[in-house]
Formats: sequence, structure tokens, C-alpha cells
Amino acid sequence: MSRGAFIVIEGLDRSGKTTQTAALYEQLKEVGKVAKLLKFPDRTTAIGKMIDAYLRSQSDLDDRAIHLLFSANRWELASEIEKDLKEGINILCDRYAFSGIAFSASKGLPYEWCRAPDISLPSPDLVLFLDISPEKAKERGGYGEERYEKEEMQKKVREIFKRIGEEMNVATAGAKWVVIDAGRDCEDVAKDVWAHAEGLIEGTSQPITRLWD
Ligand code: TMP
Repeated sequence: MSRGAFIVIEGLDRSGKTTQTAALYEQLKEVGKVAKLLKFPDRTTAIGKMIDAYLRSQSDLDDRAIHLLFSANRWELASEIEKDLKEGINILCDRYAFSGIAFSASKGLPYEWCRAPDISLPSPDLVLFLDISPEKAKERGGYGEERYEKEEMQKKVREIFKRIGEEMNVATAGAKWVVIDAGRDCEDVAKDVWAHAEGLIEGTSQPITRLWD
């Protein structure tokens, strides 16, 4: 029995994730595929509202507490993701557990501690990491409005993402991690995104795996 594909788009702030996730969604619809668009943090839930207030610096929280809230925000939707995939719906997701680790570990929390609460979440089939230098990201509009949008932080975040990707690709099972140069024109990036996603959208008969299990 075929199920939907689970594709995550990750990257630094201002790397074009949201634009590319939306473009991929439109392309899927054009070829007649059923897809759902998700975004983490999902700021609409009760937990998401707490995260939103924190990111806009309207509230302060202990680094570990906010980390656990980001993870809980994913767990809130985990069973729905699994259900949708089983029903043949493709899930396109803007950020996931990888952002959780990269951002919190870059604040100095231990890497393994950061990964722990997300262990066993439904694993994506593919992670497309939109790679851009923090210098280039900064030149793009809007940088600096939210808590983590600072060049120093983004540099550390990029290094941790690199580590996560390397470790994922060493593992024999689980999501494939692909790095895409996001410093180029939006159309060129979209072509690469499509080239990697296209093979998956016919559905897959692979069982749904769990992250880092
Ligand atoms: P957004 O700009 O994509 O809405 O993401 C909001 C910020 O939250 C962004 O700086 C990345 C950060 N973040 C975390 O720190 N942990 C997480 O688990 C997620 C999903 C995002």
C-alpha cells in the first residue's frame, strides 16, 4: 500500500524556505497530487502562541523550557502527520526537529539533550536544506526582526545543521539530507527542489520510520 511522502525544508532564517515550500506545494497541485503544507513553529496552537510571544521578545523563558515547547509543538501534530501520510497525503513541512536542535544547541545547550525530546517523531523521507551564508541572508529583507535573527547566532546554527545532515546521511535508515545552494535566484533553487522531490511524490510503500529511533 502506497502512502504520502513527507518532505521537510530546512534552512537558516531568510534562506527562502517559506517561498520554496509554497512553490513546491503549488507544483504538486499542478500535477494533481494531494499535499498539505505545515510550518513549525505552528503559532496557532496554545503552545505555539507561547512560542510566538517568546520569539517576538514579548516574554522570556528559560532556554530549556522554550526548547521543550518547540518540541511539544511538533508532538501536538505528530499523530495527524502519520494519519495523513497513511491516507496518501504528501506533507510538505517548513522546518522540523532539525531547527529545534540547531537553534537551541547554538545557544549552548548540549546537542544530545536538544535531540532527545524529538526522538521518535515521524521521520521525513527527505530533508532539503537550503544553504545560504549568514552574510547573504542578512542582505535579504527583514533580517533582525525576531529574537534569533542575528549574524553570530546564524553562523553557529549553520554549523550545527551541517553536523545534523552529516550524521543523518551516515545512518543507513531514515531521511535523506540534501543540501541546496539557496544563495541563487529563487527559480533556480525551485528547480533543484523539484528535481529532488519529484521522485517521491508518486507515493512510497516504505513504512513510516521514526526519527533517531
Ligand atoms: P520561522 O521564522 O520559520 O517562523 O521560525 C521562527 C524561529 O524559531 C526561527 O528563528 C527558528 C526558531 N526555531 C527554533 O528555535 N526551534 C524550533 O524547533 C523551530 C521549529 C524553530
